[in-house]
Amino acid sequence: MTGGCQLAGEVLIPGAKNSVLKLMAASLLAPGVTTLSAVPEILDVDVMADVLTTLGATVHRDVATGTMTIDTPVTPGAAADPDLVRRIRASVAILGPLVGRCGEARVALPGGDAIGSRALDMHVNGLRRLGAVVDIEDGVLVARSSGRLQGAAIWLDFPSVGATENLLMAGVLAKGTTVVDNAAREPEIADLCQFLTEMGARIEGIGGSTLVIEGVDELRPATHETVPDRIVAGTYAIGAVMTRGDVFIRNGRAEHLGIVLEKLSAAGAIVDVGGDGFRVSMDDRPRSIDVVTLPYPGFPTDLLPQIIALEAVSQGVSLITENVFDSRFVFCRELLRLGAQLRTDGHHVVVRPATQLVGASVSASDVRAGAGLVLAGLVADGITEVHEVHHIDRGYAGFVENLRALGADIRRERDAVAA
Ligand code: EPU
Repeated sequence: MTGGCQLAGEVLIPGAKNSVLKLMAASLLAPGVTTLSAVPEILDVDVMADVLTTLGATVHRDVATGTMTIDTPVTPGAAADPDLVRRIRASVAILGPLVGRCGEARVALPGGDAIGSRALDMHVNGLRRLGAVVDIEDGVLVARSSGRLQGAAIWLDFPSVGATENLLMAGVLAKGTTVVDNAAREPEIADLCQFLTEMGARIEGIGGSTLVIEGVDELRPATHETVPDRIVAGTYAIGAVMTRGDVFIRNGRAEHLGIVLEKLSAAGAIVDVGGDGFRVSMDDRPRSIDVVTLPYPGFPTDLLPQIIALEAVSQGVSLITENVFDSRFVFCRELLRLGAQLRTDGHHVVVRPATQLVGASVSASDVRAGAGLVLAGLVADGITEVHEVHHIDRGYAGFVENLRALGADIRRERDAVAA
């Protein structure tokens, strides 16, 4: 891509990656046909569809309408294909529904982005509290339950998104009451709770940090629209600010981006909410802001690379602190190649103003790092090549096309975004 554009126009936000993958896993909880809409056209959805297929489900996807149907058999398989599972971290979400409904789940220790150690202890301990026997056999996590799981009170050490989701999906068919305390509160979890409720689950406290689940004997398939992707929306919003542009983010939910939009306003952006989305515009060089990532409603770690990229072109010094993952700063190495002035220390990074980023060849280490590098390339002088863009495909549908429609000089080559 060649830097120097001002993003302007409108972009439509699809359903959230981190919701739809769990909705797909939840379809295992009931035999019959689940219908999901606003399904984004991203790689991780394809992989998750393959995971479900190997478990015996029949998955149909209509890319034109963004609709997916999943026909779940009466007796799904217990073991997901290890090669598929290792490709996406979200595949661990099949653990709760399978052990809850079928009494056995086998999931190869999952993969996903290289952004930290990403342990599963809270998933495992929570399932054990519900009565499952969980072991690791040859690199495969095996959870078994001789009868129905038994409701229990579970306190999470940290509001883990994945553990909250797994325990929710295990608890909905358990005998009695399950309480998940210190639960994660991300909008994608509320979306999953909504879907489970539509399937017949009984959940109280949706959106809060204490979830009370009254187990039911069985669930039925449901039809559900995926919540819009707040991280994709936030990425375009940051892009608008960095390029001093003016973008209407249609279908973006401003209420899910409270602190992000607050920070962008503090940087000097004008944010107007209304008309099925929100508009972000910027006239001047952004002012620097400090950011601390935290579980929702804190600043999302999934917007960390993008906000560091913004700080690299802002005036003033900013301090960014990452509290969720331990390796997300790998991205900073690549940003340095573009001339960013920054220094990392533990989980902090200090970003000083660069006179001008300069185009270079850089490499995406994960989906959000890839998005951050593309945003940086949009404001760098000259040509930037981003390699390993398959990471971006995991979470951003039509990223290059959307940016081009907003005025960016960007194109995709076989394995690079370049010009
Ligand atoms: N953790 C543990 N033990 C556990 C579970 C988590 O130590 O049993 C730690 C992790 O190592 C990590 C922290 O807790 O340091 C947060 O992990 P969490 O479980 O909350 O995250 P996740 O479920 O693995 C999801 C998203 C991530 C997003 C995080 C935080 C999906 C598929 N992934 O991951 O999304 O960053 O929540 O919001 O939903 C992305 O989309 O780029 C992405 C990485």
